[in-house]
Amino acid sequence: MAPVTVPTLKLNDGNEIPMLSYGFGTANFAGAEDDIKDKTVMAIKSGYYHLDCAECKPPISLLSCYMNESGVGAGIKASGVEREKLFVTTKVVGTKNQDVDAALDTSLKKLGLDYVDLYLLHVPFSAGGPEGTQNIWKQLEAVQESGKAKSIGVSNFMQDDLELIFKVAKITPAINQLEYHPYLQHGDLLDFNRKHGIAVAVYSPLSAITAARPGPVDEVYAELAKKYGVSESDVGLRWCLDQNIVTITTSSSKERLDGYMKNTFSFRLVPQEIERISELGKQKHYQGLGMAFMTKYYGNYKVEQEAA
Ligand SMILES: NC(=O)c1ccc[n+]([C@@H]2O[C@H](COP(=O)([O-])OP(=O)(O)OC[C@H]3O[C@@H](n4cnc5c(N)ncnc54)[C@H](OP(=O)(O)O)[C@@H]3O)[C@@H](O)[C@H]2O)c1
Repeated sequence: MAPVTVPTLKLNDGNEIPMLSYGFGTANFAGAEDDIKDKTVMAIKSGYYHLDCAECKPPISLLSCYMNESGVGAGIKASGVEREKLFVTTKVVGTKNQDVDAALDTSLKKLGLDYVDLYLLHVPFSAGGPEGTQNIWKQLEAVQESGKAKSIGVSNFMQDDLELIFKVAKITPAINQLEYHPYLQHGDLLDFNRKHGIAVAVYSPLSAITAARPGPVDEVYAELAKKYGVSESDVGLRWCLDQNIVTITTSSSKERLDGYMKNTFSFRLVPQEIERISELGKQKHYQGLGMAFMTKYYGNYKVEQEAA
């Protein structure tokens, strides 16, 4: 397959992020090191130079990351692609009193890198309370200043979580990584992010095809796939990309990865088609189990406050 140049999005700090990313959570969670290494090589060789990782700190395991950062590191090395060409994201959970600099050092060691391109605060609720979250953000600012993270941002932040950060931030988050698909559009949240110069990245973009089927967008996905001669997944990814959203997917299949790379940049949805999917999607609500998982293992002060 001829190499495809993935378009980039300019962040508020001037850095550029590739719009399509390969993720190491979900299906790759806790994968065996050799398997993750092979998947990393496969993804990079298919043109996915933006890799989305995360630490997974105790109590889940004494290992770090989505429990596979070392495998990603081995894969990066084996791919032979120069470090500067890759865009590596990882995340810190942000538990109460967590030492962010030390967490990043652990991630860098596992990844075999001396910097990450993007470091994210994984969730807004695990730091024991609002001051804890603000404290973690200040520590992220410090690691950006140290040069160990080129850009910093957040993940799973709703409007009130962002407002909490704004009260103490010297640096505005460059990006907010959210679950997003037709059945979880978050009302005005994307506009709120952009109004404040925060780019939007999304995970689980294919939920309407994978976990939440059947549903009201099935027909329009099939119709548009036929019209453009692509797969329904390509339509699902394009619906995000056409909204200027950095889109994170994953796959164990080289065929699928090559297909996304070839097809999603070969067509565009017209505004009426984007709108049609959005409107139909609002008829159903679906959210994956990721946040319940994080809440179970790391705590959620918002839920605890509501229960009290
Ligand atoms: N920040 C956060 O809190 C957070 C949370 C969750 C995820 N993430 C990130 O986002 C990445 C992507 O998330 P995701 O896996 O939910 O993305 P997704 O793109 O919605 O789903 C990808 C999964 O769908 C499967 N799939 C694709 N097409 C299919 C089809 N036609 N039929 C059945 N299955 C199909 C793939 O399996 P195959 O292997 O068969 O292709 C793969 O496991 C994660 O790896 C992680 O890096 C971040």
